[in-house]
Amino acid sequence: MITRDTIAKILDTAQIEDVVRDFVNLKKAGSILKGNCPFHNEKTPSFVVNPNKNIFKCFGCGVGGDSVSFIMEHEKLSFPEALRYLAQKYHIEVEETFTSKEDEHEKNEKDSLLIALNYAAKFYQQQLTQTDDGIAIGLSYFKERGFLDDTIQNFQLGYAPDSFDAFCKQAIADGYNTEILLKAGLIKEKNGKHFDFFRDRVMFPIFNVSGKVVAFGGRMLKSAQADNSGVYNPKYINTSETDVYHKSLVLYGIAQAKADIRKRDVCYLVEGYTDVLSLYQAGIRNVVASSGTALTKEQVQLIKRFTQNIVILYDGDAAGIKAALRGLDIVLEQGLNVKLVLLPDGEDPDSFVKKKGTDATLEFIENNQQDFILFKATQGNIEAKNDPVKKADIIKDIVDSIAKVDDNIKRQLYIKQCAGIVDVPENILINETNKIRTAQLKRAREISQDEKQQLDNYVQIDVDHSQPISKTPKLFYQERDIIRILIEHGESAMTDELSVAEYVIFELVDIEFKNDVFGRVIQLYIDAYRNNTPLEEVKNINHITDIEVKNCLIEIIATPYQLSPNWYAKHEIVVKDANRTYKTDVVSAMNRFRYYKMGEIMQICGEKIKKADESGNYEESTAFILKLMEMKKMQQALAKEIQSVIHPS
Ligand code: CTP
Ligand code: MN
Repeated sequence: MITRDTIAKILDTAQIEDVVRDFVNLKKAGSILKGNCPFHNEKTPSFVVNPNKNIFKCFGCGVGGDSVSFIMEHEKLSFPEALRYLAQKYHIEVEETFTSKEDEHEKNEKDSLLIALNYAAKFYQQQLTQTDDGIAIGLSYFKERGFLDDTIQNFQLGYAPDSFDAFCKQAIADGYNTEILLKAGLIKEKNGKHFDFFRDRVMFPIFNVSGKVVAFGGRMLKSAQADNSGVYNPKYINTSETDVYHKSLVLYGIAQAKADIRKRDVCYLVEGYTDVLSLYQAGIRNVVASSGTALTKEQVQLIKRFTQNIVILYDGDAAGIKAALRGLDIVLEQGLNVKLVLLPDGEDPDSFVKKKGTDATLEFIENNQQDFILFKATQGNIEAKNDPVKKADIIKDIVDSIAKVDDNIKRQLYIKQCAGIVDVPENILINETNKIRTAQLKRAREISQDEKQQLDNYVQIDVDHSQPISKTPKLFYQERDIIRILIEHGESAMTDELSVAEYVIFELVDIEFKNDVFGRVIQLYIDAYRNNTPLEEVKNINHITDIEVKNCLIEIIATPYQLSPNWYAKHEIVVKDANRTYKTDVVSAMNRFRYYKMGEIMQICGEKIKKADESGNYEESTAFILKLMEMKKMQQALAKEIQSVIHPS
């Protein structure tokens, strides 16, 4: 764990303006700075940095916070990772406590692997651009394929020389020990001799999401294809699993693509390294590759950090279609929207974009997106022809996919359309889907409880991890915050017709306050609204007879904002900031309140489901399951709106 002293040092040193400037072009506007928000797509800048308060805020999408939360959100790092990032930026030495000797050792070893991998990338790069062989063989290969210097540079492409151990020798001479080189997958050992794993290949470093080299793919050169020695020589060889490279967690290109994926709100998924490079070079930068294997859950979750939308661009030949379909269910399961674009037979994105250019490619993608499930049904129907056994398989397959769609209406539509395509009665599909969903929901219920716990425990700007999280439920603070807003801004205008007080009252019609005293304060406001009493009167504590209400108001009026920012973060109340308008303040307080209220309703649903299940009341159980899912979806939508504090995934 990073020590508190270090955290304090980092927070004291990191200047928000300076941190943000690495990513956003900021212009001065009075005492603040403005720029285009890096978290959503916008033309007029609504992203504001306040150097005095050392915070940022986007009035467009609502994201806001301090230097650490900016780095967390922008680089998708955890809290300690973001601290380390800033420490590095400001050359602050990170002191840590509680790490055992083994942890320490493991961390050091991983660091050593990363350093060696980075060294290797530099070595291959230097070989490519500064040695005769590299230029004649490697660089000319890349040039022939149309890759420009910029692309080669951006992806740190390289060349591994045609030598038994050139890299190994050089690395040892530069102070790397063979143990680390072996563990990084850069060299191998045979009969006590060390030799280079990658030889006579063009090199594609594979970066993790924060841009560190964790592995390599090496492609054979044309000359090698003529090799008829009978030894199997695959087109690509890749680093096998190491302590820093887990194939299933990495997507090729994610480091270079993440900002654009977020901006365009869609991720293009292709098969190969060269597809990523060519699209990137053509200015289509929201693209990653699964590197020829089936997508994993972790990879989909990685994409999900940046967008909900995936478009799969695969070769339209049989193999391409198979590969594309393999990814389907895992994507649906994660609740992402997925479309499929099949390129003309024999074309991959690399060849397509080179032939047609950027505009035509984007246009093709736009015009040829197919729905994944319908595609599967059509494809299956063609395959099954009149074979009833095969048909049964295909129906099962389709139903499996449909059952993964959470949206009720979408699911019904799919059933209707698929029934038409494979020519079976809708009822069959409905029954089968329901069976699967009931089983799934049973499982989901158990999981969603966990998730909720995670959300509840999530505190974004909370620096002090040693303090126990308050036992008082968040809802209490959310309710209190709404009362605070009523008192502070009740009279101000929310819209042309409504005051803030009226707005809040109307927004609360369907919700009851849990805290009795807060509920009575709300009632005061409702009464005032009904009786047309000026709000000044409501706040006049001398006139309040209910002693608990009176104390409550006094407490809130007396302690508006002298609490530390950590307190606000911990209770997920937006940090007070003079640049925020009271309107945003009102909206986010209401959103947060609703968010937690829904959590409560979900919990009640959960209990009801359990009871109904126990008494075998299937209908009732299903009804509550649906309600629970609806709540969860609404909650997720809200979480998106209040992303500044609550992490959606
Ligand atoms: N791949 C691999 N090992 C192989 C073949 C392929 O790891 N023996 C992975 C690579 O990540 C490759 C991807 O699968 O990028 C797609 O394969 P393919 O389409 O054959 O390669 P391309 O990237 O298109 O390469 P090129 O255009 O140079 O042939
Ligand atoms: Mn290719």
